[in-house]
Amino acid sequence: MSKGFVEDDITREVRMRTDIVALISEYVRLRKTGKNYVGLCPFHEEKTASFTVDPDKQLFYCFGCGAGGNAFTFLMKREGLSFPEALEKLAQRAGVRLPSRSRYRGDESRRKENKRLLDALEFAQSKFRDMLYGSRGKDALKYLETRGLSREIIDKFGLGFAPDEWDFIASSAKRSGFHQGDFLKAGLLLERPSGGYYDRFRNRVTFPIYDSAGTLIGFGGRAIGDETPKYLNSPETPVFRKGRELYALSLAKPGIRRKDRVCVVEGYMDVIMSFQHGIDYTVAGMGTALSREQARALLLLTGEVYLVYDRDEAGKRATRRSIDVFREAGGRTRIVSLPGSKDPDVFLRTEGPGAYEKLLDEALPDIQFIYDEARRENAHLGMEGKIRVMEAMVPVLASLSSDFERSAYIEDFSRDLAVPTDSLNRDVETYRRKSKKARKYKDPQNRDTTGYDNQRQPNPASGSKRVDKTGGKKPTDIEVSVVRRKAEEGVIRCLIENPELLKKAMETLGEQDFADPVLRELFKILREGSPDTVADERIQAQVAELCLRFGDVSRDSAPRILDDCIRSMRRERLEELRETIALAERTKDQAALTQAILDYQRLLKQLKSTGDASDGSAL
Ligand code: UTP
Ligand code: MN
Repeated sequence: MSKGFVEDDITREVRMRTDIVALISEYVRLRKTGKNYVGLCPFHEEKTASFTVDPDKQLFYCFGCGAGGNAFTFLMKREGLSFPEALEKLAQRAGVRLPSRSRYRGDESRRKENKRLLDALEFAQSKFRDMLYGSRGKDALKYLETRGLSREIIDKFGLGFAPDEWDFIASSAKRSGFHQGDFLKAGLLLERPSGGYYDRFRNRVTFPIYDSAGTLIGFGGRAIGDETPKYLNSPETPVFRKGRELYALSLAKPGIRRKDRVCVVEGYMDVIMSFQHGIDYTVAGMGTALSREQARALLLLTGEVYLVYDRDEAGKRATRRSIDVFREAGGRTRIVSLPGSKDPDVFLRTEGPGAYEKLLDEALPDIQFIYDEARRENAHLGMEGKIRVMEAMVPVLASLSSDFERSAYIEDFSRDLAVPTDSLNRDVETYRRKSKKARKYKDPQNRDTTGYDNQRQPNPASGSKRVDKTGGKKPTDIEVSVVRRKAEEGVIRCLIENPELLKKAMETLGEQDFADPVLRELFKILREGSPDTVADERIQAQVAELCLRFGDVSRDSAPRILDDCIRSMRRERLEELRETIALAERTKDQAALTQAILDYQRLLKQLKSTGDASDGSAL
């Protein structure tokens, strides 16, 4: 574990200069309660906020799923980064310069490759931008202007132009000493069957695509004329995952937070035109159906999601799909219908932002949209149509967990269909009772409502109840009791918050006294220094849990609690040894028996010398 101490000083400095509340706020809307902040957990789907951030301790912990740690752990878990990558990101953010040679060598090659791909993308971006403003970009620039984009917004979104050439990027990359292979991997080039490379984006306006932290990860390209496809996007690459990213999210985050709402639109142009009109809380997918991950990322920022899709058949299908995706991700949406089959781009240009925001205010709740659609589709079918509408609505209504909401909609729909409320009510109730699926059916409320009073999930690191005792010397595994585990936790918690007690604890405790591997590791770490700079995620989760889950240990009571816990560890250990001895006698395991008896006697002697043998005297 000594290599867990990664460039301690730098790590500590970066940690000190990072505000964990600000960092996490980029992903999760946090609300202050007392001295802590709470929000929806980004690591499991929940509807009530169990995710807690402690600004004093600079730690986070989820009471629902047990995820926890510091700023580094958060980024590692959330962005799937290695420790050095998280360190680099946070250092950049905090304005701390990292030494060029790192002691740490993990994932170095992956990190280097990703860096080369990002460099390739940045290179292309600067070329595309130069082109747009150069003589060869005249038509492209004119195209953008005829679409009503201001210079300012073209600039803000970094639009560019890929000229009508087969090897504009391919050869300028080569000339500048880059490896074309990296450009291929970054999705900028394609391979010729005969060998060599050619450009993916040709004669297109380019739309740079950034991740939520503002790193350039890919491009979209729009044809200037009628060529097909109209839009061409970067393929999936090691740095660009379409199911994960949302177009313009990095730009829209402040607006989403300020207005506490987000508009989801279909096209890049819709996003850009929205921003130009001050609707700066708008994002789009990547030309693919929205994924649950994308929906979840938005729901962590706001509960008010507006779907502003086209009204044509394809748009309606997409709307319906997105409604379901958001419901599966634990949220609801409102559906905005723009009149006259306009998309947001066209609507904003012709009607202006005032009319647009008015439509947002009038947007239908998703259930109402589903109902209206079902009604419209079946309008010509008379009685048969009514039955179909009912059939479509029953599962949706059954999925609502608010009694009030459910009965309000039932009332409403019954009246509209001219059927008695009772009959729809009964159908819904029957469905709810009969079908377990009904509960699961896209129901935000019923999906994992883990709250404070829920049982802690087993911590995969320390959850194994059966622990190999004394380093594998004994074949007989006796279960570690809950009491012992609690006592071990208590010891470590006292020591984290009161390091001055360490000397005293070390007089009577060694790491071998800890049955739980993570707590044992933590004890070692505390003996050598502080856990602050340790990279190990399990360690950080354990620290966060101990510090946030059990509240503070006051300075005055710490020595007493520590004593109690140590005594309790001893007593439990004696009890376990007694069981081990009994088991060894039964199984005639002579070696184990001898060892256990020796351990038992030693422990007893120790306890006697500290005047605490009362519990262990009878063998
Ligand atoms: P639309 O065809 O609705 O695009 O596709 P749009 O934004 O209205 O385009 P303009 O206004 O004609 O320029 C919506 C989105 O679907 C993806 C793109 O992400 C686009 O923004 N798409 C569309 C593609 O990926 N390829 C295509 O050929 C068309
Ligand atoms: Mn359009």
